[in-house]
Amino acid sequence: MRIDLMAGASLSAAALCGGAEPTILVFDSGLGGLTVLDALRRARPDARYVYVGDDAAFPYGRLTEAALVARVLDVMERMVAAHHPDLVVIACNTASTVVLPALRQRFTTPFVGVVPPIKPAAAATRSRLVSLLATPGTVARSYTRDLIATYAGACTVTLVGAQNLAGYAEAELAGAPVDDVTLAAEIAPCFVTGADGRRTDVVCLACTHYPLLLPRLEALAPWPVTWIDPAPAIARRVVQLIGPAPRDADRHSAAHGSFTAGTCLTDPLRNALAAHGVGEVAVEAIPLPLQ
Ligand code: DGL
Repeated sequence: MRIDLMAGASLSAAALCGGAEPTILVFDSGLGGLTVLDALRRARPDARYVYVGDDAAFPYGRLTEAALVARVLDVMERMVAAHHPDLVVIACNTASTVVLPALRQRFTTPFVGVVPPIKPAAAATRSRLVSLLATPGTVARSYTRDLIATYAGACTVTLVGAQNLAGYAEAELAGAPVDDVTLAAEIAPCFVTGADGRRTDVVCLACTHYPLLLPRLEALAPWPVTWIDPAPAIARRVVQLIGPAPRDADRHSAAHGSFTAGTCLTDPLRNALAAHGVGEVAVEAIPLPLQ
């Protein structure tokens, strides 16, 4: 089995973008990819970033695998042609766990995916009770089951497919946070106590939206756990592929934002995007075909 934690062979910066500053396209169903964009901008502040949110199809967690593959290929066709990225980061577990092979077959551009951080979770746990908090789509993937079998055979992994958490993260960013009781109920199944008294001590944040809620998740957890956010590892992988920032690179230019519906783009949300480094925002409308 091939574990697609990251993209394939390493590429030198010069080979990838002819020595110029690279253009990196960061893609998600909505706003979760901002958590990955933050890590990327810290690692390569000099790069040009295009942030694409497929808000017309949000949430991806409810789409069938076939519908999701077709949708991401369609959107990527448009976005690659419009923005000519040197590298694309699929900053979405729900998509990465099923569409990477099709993307790599269709495009010559390198793709880096984000998949559930099972391996670091298995390394971090002491109690060997780990929970994986993700969308219902990611939890159902055979890819996710294979990751667990490969890396966490010695652990008991509780899969928690959260129906609403990505939406709650978007609401938080848009200035309309859900209340504590609602949020606590969504994460409650992550916290397990075994018959021998062992308790869950690591929770994988296997949806890029969830780190947007991290301070609240920490405050609402019934006991302290290690929350694993894969974003820093993704940024390290991108640097491996395109090379480190030049020594004099201290420039953080604003990322360009592109949304496929734009209906979510209220003033508070535009301010939140700006806080994550996304300045100018455009709508490149790609309606979701009727299923
Ligand atoms: N941010 C996405 C992920 O990492 C999914 C949210 C959704 O569209 O359901 O899985």
